[in-house]
Amino acid sequence: MESILKNRPALEHEIMQVAEVAGYLWQKGWAERNGGNITVNITEHVDDAIRALPAISAPVAMGVHLPHLKGCYFYCKGTQKRMRDLARCPMSNGSIIRITDDCEHYEIVADQAVKPTSELPAHLSVHNYLLAKGSPYRASLHTHPIELVAMSHSNSFLEKDVATRLLWSMIPETKAFCPRGLGIIPYMLPGSVALADATLKELDDYDVVMWEKHGVFAVDTDIMSAFDQVDVLNKSAQIYIASKSMGFTPDGMSDEQMAEMTRAFNLPK
Ligand code: 13P
Ligand code: ZN
Repeated sequence: MESILKNRPALEHEIMQVAEVAGYLWQKGWAERNGGNITVNITEHVDDAIRALPAISAPVAMGVHLPHLKGCYFYCKGTQKRMRDLARCPMSNGSIIRITDDCEHYEIVADQAVKPTSELPAHLSVHNYLLAKGSPYRASLHTHPIELVAMSHSNSFLEKDVATRLLWSMIPETKAFCPRGLGIIPYMLPGSVALADATLKELDDYDVVMWEKHGVFAVDTDIMSAFDQVDVLNKSAQIYIASKSMGFTPDGMSDEQMAEMTRAFNLPK
């Protein structure tokens, strides 16, 4: 069977970006085995021929009613699939799904019947929320960045905005490129609807949230930008940890330096 990507350069570009990011996740050591997942809302690339595609799976109940996803299409990493494999073959390690008109089921339409990620409740609830509020964000990323996850093992970093302020103060770029900071979600069962609901609430205030002792979940306009936000945060965590390893606690930028940066780049307070 022909790939859905054939003769659809815009859609192919979107999927190739996912593959590129999947490779980075593996290279960074954030994607052990099947760790992490990616979904992208690709509805803008859908034409009549795609809409006419028959389902290649039975409808699967999502367990939630997501009214803003009616007729939407998503690329989803497959559950148990490896990022390092997805980097080479995105359409064998992920699939394209369509949300059915009852807004309670999805069906797979291409290329192969690869079952979507176990974190689909969080991803789809988040896409539903983004569309509801008219956000231009179309991509969501869950990954296991080592240093950020390590920090989530200490209660001292889990108080609201403690980690955000610390990470922002490690290097000026972090606030510039992750201006809403890092939200914190207490440990919850992976793949659960409770985790999806908690993630939604935090995304009111943050683009990246920490799932305590597990990983982060990030949203942005496209998958490369979502990756960049996690990358700058984790760079800051690495600088903090490197300083600690050298035997001192880093000073961090001063309040005056942070305020100057915030003014100069017109960032939120
Ligand atoms: P999946 O393989 O189902 O995407 O799960 C990976 C993961 O990181 C779960 O939190
Ligand atoms: Zn995970």
